[in-house]
This record gives sequence, C-alpha cells and structure tokens, in this order.
Amino acid sequence: MKTAIAVLGIGRMGSALARALIRADFDVRVWNRTADKCAPLAALGATAAATVRDAVADSDIILVNVSDYDATRSLLRRDDVAPLLTGKLIVELTSGTPKGAREASSWAGSQDASYLDGAILATPDYIGTDAGTILVSGPASLFHDSQDFFRALGGNVQHVGDDPGRANAMDSSVLSLMWGTLFGALQSIAICKAEAIPLPDLATQWTATAPVIEGLVDDLIGRTGQGRFAADADSLSTIAPHFSAFQHLRELVNSHGVDPGLVNAYDAVFRRAITAGQEQDDFAAMSLHLARQA
Ligand SMILES: NC(=O)c1ccc[n+]([C@@H]2O[C@H](COP(=O)([O-])OP(=O)(O)OC[C@H]3O[C@@H](n4cnc5c(N)ncnc54)[C@H](OP(=O)(O)O)[C@@H]3O)[C@@H](O)[C@H]2O)c1
Repeated sequence: MKTAIAVLGIGRMGSALARALIRADFDVRVWNRTADKCAPLAALGATAAATVRDAVADSDIILVNVSDYDATRSLLRRDDVAPLLTGKLIVELTSGTPKGAREASSWAGSQDASYLDGAILATPDYIGTDAGTILVSGPASLFHDSQDFFRALGGNVQHVGDDPGRANAMDSSVLSLMWGTLFGALQSIAICKAEAIPLPDLATQWTATAPVIEGLVDDLIGRTGQGRFAADADSLSTIAPHFSAFQHLRELVNSHGVDPGLVNAYDAVFRRAITAGQEQDDFAAMSLHLARQA
C-alpha cells in the first residue's frame, strides 16, 4: 500500500513539495487555507481535502509548510485534529527557530506523535531535484525509516542531528552567510551608483573575486574551528591590513551619504579586536569578538 501523505500549506514551497511527492507516486492529500491553490495539484493526482481533519485522518505522514509555527499551531492544536496525530509522523518544514522546533517536538510527543523538523535550503524550483537541500533534525531512526519520502523531496536531504532544533539553528547560520553577502552587495551597489560605476562592471568584479571570498570564508571557518587565532605561515592576512582597507570603505560610504549602519557594525567588531591587542593576529581572531564568550 502506498504511504499516504498530508501536505498542509500549498503556497509556493508547499506546492513544490506536494508536486515532488506526487511525482514519486505517494498517495498525496493536500489542504490549503485558500482552497483553490490545491486545484493544480488535484489535476496531477492529489486528493484535495476540504479540512485539515480530512487531510490528516488517514495519512501516515503530516508534512506542514506554512508561513510560521504560529500558523502550524493553529492547524494542528485543535480538538478535532490533535487526537488524529497519534502514531503518525509530523514533518515540519516551515521555517522557524530552534526553540520553536523543540517546543513543537515536545508537544507532538505529548500527543504520541513522532516529529521531525526540517529547514529548506532551496527555492521551490530545486525541490525534487538532485540539488535540493533540506536539513532535518530529530530522532535519526525516524529519518532513516522515511528515506523514500525524504529522497522524493530532494537529492541532498540530510539528517543533521537528534536535537529537533538543530536544522533551524543551522538554517539561520547559513542564512547569516547569505544575508552577509546580499547586504554587502547592496552596499557595493550603493557605492557604484555614487561613483557612477556601471553595475555590469560590478558584476564582472564579483565573478572575479567570488572564489577569493569563498576561500577566505573557508579559511575563517577552518581556523576558528581549530582555534588558530595567532598569525602563522599559513595566515592569509592579519586583522591590521583588513582594518586599514576598511577605513577607505568607511570614508567612501560616509562621504557619499550611504547608510552607515553596516560599516558602523563592522567597525565596532574591529575595534573590540584591536582594543584586545589582536591587530597582528589572524583575521580569524575577529570571531572572538562577535561570538558569545563561553
Ligand atoms: N519560497 C522559498 O524559496 C522558501 C525557501 C525556504 C523555505 N521556505 C519556507 O517555506 C514556508 C512557506 O513559504 P512559501 O514561499 O511557500 O510562502 P507562501 O507562498 O507565502 O505560502 C505561505 C503558505 O502558508 C499558508 N498560511 C499562512 N498563514 C496561515 C494560517 N494562519 N493558517 C493556515 N495557513 C496559513 C498560506 O495559505 P494561503 O495560501 O491561504 O495564504 C500558504 O499556503 C515558509 O516558512 C518559508 O520560510 C520558503
């Protein structure tokens, strides 16, 4: 018998998840607050459920993908739905915090339901493809018992830990890398505009320097992990030349009236490191001045 899966939330991402499951020949029931979004999936073979209760009733796995955990709570923690979750696996793929995932896992346990929490590190077009990345946390045995289900969602679905909060924590950490780059790009664009540099020229330089930046990030993560903060023969640079070049950026940003919020934040971390006497240390020593100290 086919595994029956209820997909609650048929937005952009939920639609992609449901489509991938239909393609993999699961018995898919879909429910969405705005019901007409289910029609294209029904045309592909899913059963459109009129209520959450109908979707959940005979399903083995309850996949939730709505806007936030409050929305999930409003769907599952109802007298007509919660008792139906007993013995089933809830897979929460809505974005959230580690705390939210741990609380949801504990609530599921109180209903005698199993729970895995996931974070999707991909856009909907990656779902169901070999490059689709989803991080999943919670009991490893539950993940391994549902391999076919997870494989249908993407080729790079990884179990990242038994703590149900781990996937969301890792998600925020990766998003920090993403927004660091995107906000850096916004500042680059503002500088180019102020200096009348055509943006295609910036694109050319981004292509040229992206591998260098990637190498710096790899080196920073590696050295911080090893606690190698003193400059050594392998150091790519110490804090001092970074701080010196940073002054040029700061001056330019201020002279053009570009929002100084980003450079002021960078400056504060640089100054903590310098005040601590670490100017001649490897740039990795900067991590001691942003991270919470043990
Ligand atoms: N899109 C991406 O690239 C992407 C990537 C990674 C992770 N995610 C995560 O995936 C989740 C969904 O994102 P999305 O892009 O699919 O957003 P979306 O297109 O805006 O869809 C949001 C979904 O949540 C439902 N919803 C919102 N509030 C609700 C409530 N109170 N009760 C019931 N349903 C409710 C919406 O129902 P209605 O249709 O009725 O409004 C819709 O199905 C988010 O947690 C997002 O962070 C998205």
